[in-house]
Amino acid sequence: MASHKQVSVFILSSCVLLGLCMVSQSQASSSDGAVNKVKASSQTYDSGDKVNLLLYYEALCPFCANFIVNQLVKIFQTDLISIVNLRLVPWGNTVIAANNSWLCQHGPDECLLNTVDACAINVWPNLGTHFKFIQCIEHLHLENRHTRWQSCFGTLSLSPTPIRNCISSGLGIRLEAKYADETAHLNPPHKYVPWVLVNNLPLQDDYQNFVDYVCRAYRGNNIPKACKPQSLKINSSEIANSVPEVCYAERSS
Ligand SMILES: *[C@@H]1O[C@H](CO)[C@@H](O)[C@H](O)[C@H]1NC(C)=O
Ligand SMILES: *[C@@H]1O[C@H](CO)[C@@H](O)[C@H](O)[C@H]1NC(C)=O
Repeated sequence: MASHKQVSVFILSSCVLLGLCMVSQSQASSSDGAVNKVKASSQTYDSGDKVNLLLYYEALCPFCANFIVNQLVKIFQTDLISIVNLRLVPWGNTVIAANNSWLCQHGPDECLLNTVDACAINVWPNLGTHFKFIQCIEHLHLENRHTRWQSCFGTLSLSPTPIRNCISSGLGIRLEAKYADETAHLNPPHKYVPWVLVNNLPLQDDYQNFVDYVCRAYRGNNIPKACKPQSLKINSSEIANSVPEVCYAERSS
């Protein structure tokens, strides 16, 4: 399913390089309010006191699934969410072939589910809503049932219509092209997924300790309970004993 026009890649990458995204995007697709809105909200990322937590991932990397379902979810289960701006970037190690097809690391299902995730983020901008949906799909993946992803609509009482429209209209492909571009411009480049950044600092193989980094990066006065000693909800001895597990990018350069 996943091929897209070279011209849109050109527009997206040149607009990022020149810092003219708003101008060239509105010229390129002035009727496409949804894409512009996403671009605008990710660029004017005024977080106040909040800590920016960014996850680059792909839908079918089992370590991404485990991280989302068992670790990242703690943000919502504690009061950590009060100091965190979490943003998800579903593209990961996908490669754009010479013929413009997308080659997803775990096959075409992953291309579809990355696009579904991109659509979820777009049609349900509320973090709690799109996170629950993505978490539901990743949970199915941990049980080898990702092909049942559409059951998440019923599980969460969400309408499938906006997601189906997003995919069939081509909006999903355009959203993914934006995430592809953003991932390609990571500096330093990602080496694997999950690739986690806290206020622009890549945590690399220490990503499972993201709570510590978030708490240390926080400069505000309303320190959440989750940041106070003794109350870390993530069992750090479990993390210390586990080998960081990741899906490596296969780079030709
Ligand atoms: C595009 O190229 C990839 C990798 O070379 C190949 O697997 C795929 O079949 C090609 N797709 C089309 C539509 O030609
Ligand atoms: C943390 O995990 C370790 C190893 O699984 C376990 O032995 C320990 O009881 C756990 N600690 C807490 C506080 O849950």
